[in-house]
Parts: sequence; C-alpha cells; structure tokens
Amino acid sequence: MEYVIVNGEFVERSQAKVDIEDRGFQFGDGVYEVIRVYNGKMFTADEHLERLHVSGEKIGLKIPYSVEELKELLAELISKNDLKLGTIYMQFTRGVSPRNHPFPAETIALGFTANIKHVGRPSENMDNGVKALLKEDVRWLLCDVKSLNLLGNLLAKQEAVAAGCFEAIQHRGETVTEGSASNISIVKDGKVFTHPATNLILNGITRRVFLDLCEKNQIPYAEEAFTLTDLLEADEVFLSSTTAEIMPIIHINDKPVGAGAPGPVTKKLQELFLHEIEEQCGKIM
Ligand code: PDD
Repeated sequence: MEYVIVNGEFVERSQAKVDIEDRGFQFGDGVYEVIRVYNGKMFTADEHLERLHVSGEKIGLKIPYSVEELKELLAELISKNDLKLGTIYMQFTRGVSPRNHPFPAETIALGFTANIKHVGRPSENMDNGVKALLKEDVRWLLCDVKSLNLLGNLLAKQEAVAAGCFEAIQHRGETVTEGSASNISIVKDGKVFTHPATNLILNGITRRVFLDLCEKNQIPYAEEAFTLTDLLEADEVFLSSTTAEIMPIIHINDKPVGAGAPGPVTKKLQELFLHEIEEQCGKIM
C-alpha cells in the first residue's frame, strides 16, 4: 500500500483526491520541492524546506508549517512507505477557489500534497557522463522561485530528450543560465564556474553543497556567469540536481567536452558529494 499526504493527512494513494479548481491544477499557482532519501533518511532536508518557505514568500504564499513540522510529516511518510532509496515530491498551492486570476482571500486553506518515489542513484550516467543540447532560455524572470509553472523547463527538456540528450543547457543570448531541471557548471584550468544565485536560476541545493565542498577542499571556484564560448571551450562540464547529484556532461550539441569523458575535478566533486551524503544518511551500499 502506498501512502501520500493530502492537506496534512495520510491517505492511501488510490483514495487521494484533489479538487479540479485547485489553483495549482488550473494556474500552476504554487511552489514545490524534491528531496532525496538515502537509507530512509532525508538529505539536506532543512535546506530544501527553508527554500520552500522562501519560494512561497516570493509569490505571497505563506507555508502554514514550520520546517520542523514538515520534517516530522515527511519522516512519517518515509516510514509508512518503507522508503529506503528514492525521492519525496511535495507541493503547496494557493488552494481551491472558483477560477479567477486575482489571489483568493488568504483565509482559504492551501493545497498541500506529498508523495514518494522509489528510485535508485543514476550510477551509469554519473560514471559515464551524458549528452546535452543548447537551448535559448525562454522562461520568465523569476527562475529563483521553485514554482509549479514548469512549461518553459518542460519544452527545453523535451527538445533535449527528442535529440537523444539527457539535459538542455539553457542560455540567455551569450550567457549560460542553467539546465531544464539542474544547475550547470564548467571547469577551466582547475577552477569551477557556476552562474551566481540571481533571479535567472534556481539556487540549487546540490549546487550549494558542492560549492561548500569546493571551499572546504581548496578547489578554486567562482559564482560567475560564463558564456557559450566558455562552455564550449571548457575542460569539463557538469550538471547538478537532487536526483542526478553531480553528473558529467561529455557532449554538447554532439561536440565532445574536453576529452569527451568525465574529468578529474567532476570526479573529485562526485567523491566528496558521496562522502557528504554518507555523513548525513549513512553508508551507501
Ligand atoms: N529540479 N534548476 C532547476 C530549473 C531545477 O528544476 C532543479 C532541480 C535545479 C537543481 O536544484 P536542486 O539541486 O536543489 O535539486 C536547478 C528538481 C530535482 C526537479 O524539479 O525534479
């Protein structure tokens, strides 16, 4: 039996119902998070749940649970589903109200759902690297909000997948921003570059973890925007996200990146990242 959370209550998945006038369903009016679970424990839960609050604040949506309350609920969701390795997806919408663009009164209850997925680590792609496709970033200018509105991201991802690629690398003119569902970084002469945490990207939690690891391990890095030319001339390119962790990109638009194989800095970061997971969640088998 699979359990999900609907408005703070645990229900069996087949019994879960949401109203067709939920603003998340009709407008994408809400925010979400995806949290990794290793050995039945959440990785960087505080960071994700704090970002959820910040995303909410940026669109005038007040999450009615503290980080601690959410952590308790999600821990129960993990245990009810006996989730060992996988992800938790959760979202808050601006609730159910007759369809009308202005926000409804703040007194209506937000729509809150969460569910789990049993999914392994993408070891093959992490070991061998993946291909990426360049794509003009046509999304809105609040990419720092983890909003339910993902159509721009989906269009980019779909085009990449149709071209046999794992990810789209988006750029606004000459400036590389981020992937469709990941952050993008390059390595040049041993130094890591990644777009600064502005409104043009989601400030990824995985990104924050590896930047911290760079700092602690004397790996040079800069949160500086880089260009398409920098990208195509980089020694290494990698993407980062909750589900993909740190994944080498070895081809862009069918041109090899560097030697066309995962590079040493990316591999070092993968190793440090795994160590960080194990510190929080225990040994990964
Ligand atoms: N996506 N940028 C975008 C547009 C993303 O959707 C994501 C994550 C990231 C990386 O963020 P983090 O390291 O916090 O996962 C960057 C999640 C996994 C998703 O939508 O499934």
